[in-house]
Amino acid sequence: MKEKGGKAPNLLAIYGSPRRRGNTSTLLDRVVQGALDAGAKVDKVVLRDLKMSPCLEIYGCKKTGRCVIKDDFDNVYDQLLACDGLMLASPIFFYTVSATTKILMDRCQSLWVKKHWIDKVPHGEWKPKRKGLFISVGATKGKRLFEGTVLTVRYFFEVLDAELWRTLLYRGLDFEGDVLKHPEYLREAYETGRELASALKP
Ligand SMILES: Cc1cc2nc3c(=O)[nH]c(=O)nc-3n(C[C@H](O)[C@H](O)[C@H](O)COP(=O)(O)O)c2cc1C
Repeated sequence: MKEKGGKAPNLLAIYGSPRRRGNTSTLLDRVVQGALDAGAKVDKVVLRDLKMSPCLEIYGCKKTGRCVIKDDFDNVYDQLLACDGLMLASPIFFYTVSATTKILMDRCQSLWVKKHWIDKVPHGEWKPKRKGLFISVGATKGKRLFEGTVLTVRYFFEVLDAELWRTLLYRGLDFEGDVLKHPEYLREAYETGRELASALKP
């Protein structure tokens, strides 16, 4: 059931797993459904479907703040700047995000360059314009499983002027479909999507 009133918040859902129907994708689908039901507009980016080179560290972005590599990142760049909030889902691969997610992050160095070198925003002085949700899962159960990754995501979000609004982190999920054995995780994901959309309403 859609809720009415105000301008619909514009959310970007970024799918970072190589698995189309894996655990993080399933969780993100639930978040997206919650956000839609709460009246948000949601665009989806499925990283595994995009042609995106890693950052080549040539700093072609120094003049304009836009990456000079011509590939699918060009469009994602505009989507990242246009959204009010973003939802990023990546599995834990070797204690960090998936390779496609890391490629996206590194290509956003162009935004870091724009912010700090072109627009001269001093480090540490930024006001959040967006809210970011990070969703992740790992197969193991260690206490520190998500520690490094959350730090990485926090600073990635900062480049996007997004505060790390919330995380959904689940341990002990390995095989495709494992998350379906935890309806409580799916419910939490759905509710979080609703909350994010509500938190972004004017
Ligand atoms: C390349 C690779 C590296 C992984 N590294 C870790 C790891 O460091 N720690 C961990 O707990 N699980 C690790 N896993 C397991 C995944 O996090 C787990 O299978 C997860 O459920 C996959 O999420 P998805 O279904 O959304 O892709 C790894 C899996 C792969 C394929």
